Amino acid sequence: MNTNFSSSSPSQVETDCLVVVVLDQSDKDQTNKDQSDKAKNEKQEGEKDKPNPSVTTSDGAVRDAAQDVIASGEVTGKIFETTLLHRPAGLKAKRLLLIGGGKAKTFSASDLRKLAGAAVRTLKAKSLRSFACVLPDTSIPNPDAVRAVVEGAVIGNFEPDYYKSDRKDQQIDALTIVSQGDTKVLESAGEVGRIVAESQNFTRDLVNEPSNRMTPTLLAERARKMAGEAGLKCETYSTDKIKELKMGAFWGVAQGSDEPPVLIVLRYEPQGAAKDVHLGLVGKGITFDTGGISIKPADGMEKMKYDMAGGATMIGAMRAIALLRPKVKVTAVIMATENMPSGKAQKPGDVQIAMSGKSIEIINTDAEGRLVLADGLTYARQLGCTHLVDAATLTGAVVVALGYINVGIFASDDQIYARFATAANQAGEKMWRMPLDDDYKELIKSGIADMANAGARYGGAIFAAMFLKEFAEDTPWIHLDIAGTAWMEEQKPWIAKGPSGVALRSLVEFVKGWGA
Ligand code: BES
Ligand code: MN
Ligand code: ZN
Repeated sequence: MNTNFSSSSPSQVETDCLVVVVLDQSDKDQTNKDQSDKAKNEKQEGEKDKPNPSVTTSDGAVRDAAQDVIASGEVTGKIFETTLLHRPAGLKAKRLLLIGGGKAKTFSASDLRKLAGAAVRTLKAKSLRSFACVLPDTSIPNPDAVRAVVEGAVIGNFEPDYYKSDRKDQQIDALTIVSQGDTKVLESAGEVGRIVAESQNFTRDLVNEPSNRMTPTLLAERARKMAGEAGLKCETYSTDKIKELKMGAFWGVAQGSDEPPVLIVLRYEPQGAAKDVHLGLVGKGITFDTGGISIKPADGMEKMKYDMAGGATMIGAMRAIALLRPKVKVTAVIMATENMPSGKAQKPGDVQIAMSGKSIEIINTDAEGRLVLADGLTYARQLGCTHLVDAATLTGAVVVALGYINVGIFASDDQIYARFATAANQAGEKMWRMPLDDDYKELIKSGIADMANAGARYGGAIFAAMFLKEFAEDTPWIHLDIAGTAWMEEQKPWIAKGPSGVALRSLVEFVKGWGA
């Protein structure tokens, strides 16, 4: 999608469609009801529900064009409400799209990001190819607003119907952002947004591919090609090196598959980076998870092609990092393999020795993600990483706990958590902190080895995180369980059904925070 800027007044912009945000200015706080006086309360109720919609531009012609439809009550400013007017009087635009953004009081850059996505999805469904978005006149600083609009628009443009013969390839090609202000500053903010969102779509493309078209080898090829284009070092290792490194936990998972595993290492080493910080990004790259000998039920198993989403997120994040060039050293380690049942597959009861030397009793071969990550974390530490983040579609239990809305975030300490939470908030990605206290340590006990890979009935997401903690050891570490959020079960106004690319924006923001 091409992005350009216009400093004309909105009514003078020639475009297929001018998009303007409408906010509800009514100030009644729904949560602050006066329960003590029922009659009074009921009276207020009526007032409370009455919206006070207003367009977020001072352009008189736009305000006039929207006036009638707002006065009619059809437009309320409710979030994602869309109203399309043709040949709006007094405007050079062919259409005017009014898009609701909710309450003005709480309107944020995260809302704006979603609105831009919703505008793209609304307009491309009507076969439009271009539009102009009026940067809303709110308290959001203009550069932040520009970045949010570009990110949202590019993310909204993505469709997963890659293999449909009648794929329309309907895309928005050009976006004009209408804003008065320093174009240079706005352009560079837009450029950051474009890089981040295109990297997120790059990740979504990888995750979308079925496992016959995204084997560990093919994933490594994609990573290598991207690395060449973005200017990263890329190394890929297969069976021999994995055995040589004594990655017994990783190999235990990989040994049942005819497809060879790949250890993918991407390095970003900018000049002038601080000597004492080296970030490590470790991704679960199970290109298909059958469960292995502890095989999964057939129902829904097709979705296990997205079990490499954590790895794909790290590859996409490295793309954005390489293009944005923060001054901090970053290494990504992606553990790519299938998890298959076969005559060579590991079996429940087997004991594997991880790269760190710790022994693991395999209770359930379907708890494979923690095994590959265990060696990934050890390897990242061996490469000298001082801070670790892993991302993985790790447990069904995190979906039980948090549904499809929040990423489960686990942190070894409050400082690194605070940093990551700030980044996630900036990125507009919801994450909910889960516990990692030593009280949970007994979960992972084994009668025969240092730990078991599964066993307890409850607290499954915490079990997996406690297991990983044994391999992060004393290195500050964040674990992101994205099992419930890496795949959109339904389409939303701002995003297609399918791979979400969740956590990438937070990761990039987190890394940027170290390089500033
Ligand atoms: N890849 C799955 C987790 C998963 C579940 C991802 C649903 C996305 C959606 C993981 O490898 C797995 O199978 N976990 C098991 C662990 C159990 C056997 C201890 C689970 O969560 O059931
Ligand atoms: Mn599994
Ligand atoms: Zn898995």
